[in-house]
Amino acid sequence: MSGLYGIIGWPLGHTMSPTLHNWGFRQSGADAAYAAYPLEPDQIPDFMRRVRDEPFLGLSVTIPHKRTVMEFLDHMTDRAVRVGAVNTLYWDEGKLCGENTDVLGLIAPLRHMQPLPASAMILGAGGAARAAVVGFKELGIADIAIANRTGEKAEALAEEFSIRAVAWESRMEEEPALICNTTPLGMSGTMETFSPWDAKRFPAGCTVYDIVYNPLETRLLREAAAVGCGTVSGLEMFLHQGLAQFRLWTGKDMDEAGARALLLCALG
Ligand code: ATR
Repeated sequence: MSGLYGIIGWPLGHTMSPTLHNWGFRQSGADAAYAAYPLEPDQIPDFMRRVRDEPFLGLSVTIPHKRTVMEFLDHMTDRAVRVGAVNTLYWDEGKLCGENTDVLGLIAPLRHMQPLPASAMILGAGGAARAAVVGFKELGIADIAIANRTGEKAEALAEEFSIRAVAWESRMEEEPALICNTTPLGMSGTMETFSPWDAKRFPAGCTVYDIVYNPLETRLLREAAAVGCGTVSGLEMFLHQGLAQFRLWTGKDMDEAGARALLLCALG
């Protein structure tokens, strides 16, 4: 196996994907390299037409291109079609294909849970929330609710996926077994001191999942852990979406523990 891989997005300053994949290639002895390609939206059509003549074996796609690349593909997986977004390009028998490993990454840390949470509350209604809805359905979570600051967006998603919409103001009246934050509340910078859930109102025994990974421990996760809730960091989602990409491209499994240690180190 040898070849060229990379990530397209704009801007791309913060991405840990090259660190992860280049480490994986080195570990597996592959003659391959993964680079960052910062591309502005108006460069995408030309890049996607040229991609067929370049030696790329696989590409990661990130914000803001996850939807715009779709029209240039020969095939999309059912999962990517359901989410309406692609974060991974790969070749299959000469066809340029799109997958959404954000979904796989999101649910990977939940797969081992015994029992599976019977109910989930998704906070936010953007692209990450769509991946969460598709993932939780794929996992088999029976009761999925969504709450969003702009109620109409939650209602539209609820209608599309046959789940429940809950008013943002009423979200803490619910008692979900799993709470999943897909909003930027808690993110480092201006949002760091915020949490989308009242520390005094976590349902007993619930698991709290924050897809934010910078900081590693958000206020939401810190307060949930303090009252004995299980917590899942967004780093797990990032790690597992990358492991799924690597598997798709190379047919090999990256060493999970080693990759996690690498990312923890990269995050400082
Ligand atoms: P992503 O693709 O990461 O999901 P996005 O599409 O921009 O990002 O979605 C961000 C989500 O976080 C939205 O649901 C947004 O709510 P609105 O639809 O009302 O804009 C939510 N969000 C952003 N800032 C928020 C805040 N301060 N409080 C609550 N929700 C917020």
